[in-house]
Amino acid sequence: MAQLSAIQIDITTLDVDAIVNAANNSLLGGGGVDGAIHRAAGAELLAECRTLGGCKTGEAKLTKGYRLPAKYIIHTVGPVWHGGSQNEEQLLASCYRNAMSLARQAEAKSIAFPCISTGVYHFPKQRAAEIAVKTVQEEVAKDSNIIQVYFACFATEDLQTYQMLLNHH
Ligand code: APR
Repeated sequence: MAQLSAIQIDITTLDVDAIVNAANNSLLGGGGVDGAIHRAAGAELLAECRTLGGCKTGEAKLTKGYRLPAKYIIHTVGPVWHGGSQNEEQLLASCYRNAMSLARQAEAKSIAFPCISTGVYHFPKQRAAEIAVKTVQEEVAKDSNIIQVYFACFATEDLQTYQMLLNHH
């Protein structure tokens, strides 16, 4: 059974098989973790992203990791929070489910997630973490390859949120 753990880290430094990017629909980079990943991976990442034709909210697409320690980047587009009445929770769950499915197809043994949608997209942090942990737990049960899942938190508040959730299971 895979190990799920929360760590406080800049996700671009993690030497895992795949890191997940909280991208936007264009996949052409942005601020936040998206900006950090593009800066660290280098210009070849943008060149590959240009060939992908964007990404729908809730869906995920895989690229190489280029200059990152990670072999792959799984780009997913989280929902913008509009109060919770526009299917945001289901769309966020889809981000985690689709990212785990691409990781499975790539036979990744380790993967790291940022706190998708909880920055610029304003998704409530606690609720997002609950959805993330629940969905990833469901997905690891289906995947015999995955050994380690990291919830790569940037802010201390997020680390504490994930540690509370993971210690209760
Ligand atoms: N490593 C790990 N986590 C990070 C890093 C990093 N280097 N930089 C930021 N984060 C965290 C933020 O603290 C937040 O908890 O990533 C989480 C997601 O925040 P955002 O990056 O703002 O992503 P999101 O809320 O999904 O908004 C996506 O922002 O950057 C643009 O192009 C992106 O339009 C898209 C939107």
